[in-house]
Amino acid sequence: MSDPKVLISEQTIAAKISELAQTISSDYAGVEDLVMVGVLKGSFIFLADLSRRLTIPRSVDFMALSTYGNATQTDGAVRMIMDLRRNIAGRHVLIVEDIVDTGYTISYLLRALATRHPASLKTCVLVHKPDRRKVPVQIDYLGFEIPDVWVVGFGLDWSERYRTLPYIGVVEPGD
Ligand code: IMP
Ligand code: MG
Repeated sequence: MSDPKVLISEQTIAAKISELAQTISSDYAGVEDLVMVGVLKGSFIFLADLSRRLTIPRSVDFMALSTYGNATQTDGAVRMIMDLRRNIAGRHVLIVEDIVDTGYTISYLLRALATRHPASLKTCVLVHKPDRRKVPVQIDYLGFEIPDVWVVGFGLDWSERYRTLPYIGVVEPGD
């Protein structure tokens, strides 16, 4: 079994996360406590790196969601498996996601969290596959746009495999 082919290298990801962290830190300058909401499991590595590079006060919370259907086909039905620990009313919230594919997950999240009246609600996404998008989505901070391929690594999995690869790679057919 060969390692997935490199699509985005570790160095390129690190540089992009530093850039995102600078932009976010300056956009939220003066905010007392930015709540970074990581979507499990995929966002845990991106969130770990991004959160450590911010220069503003921030805290971290998590949600877990599940999409019905198998790994590569979803029909848009999203279910919450684990909710945030803390109330976000009146607080500045940044959703941190590994990938936007059809867009169903992030649009569900935006709708769900908006009903809780945060002071502001934005999204930071590492990878976007615009060719696959089915619903319009709000992406405020974006790492990379990629073509319609199944990517793994840096938190992203293929049936739970390859999540901890340090780069973003493409699984070759037959692997
Ligand atoms: P959505 O289609 O935008 O709702 O994305 C649903 C979820 O599918 C994402 O949060 C990922 O967990 C997963 N996903 C979509 N595309 C990929 C991929 O290329 N690699 C790994 N996971 C993916
Ligand atoms: Mg995900």
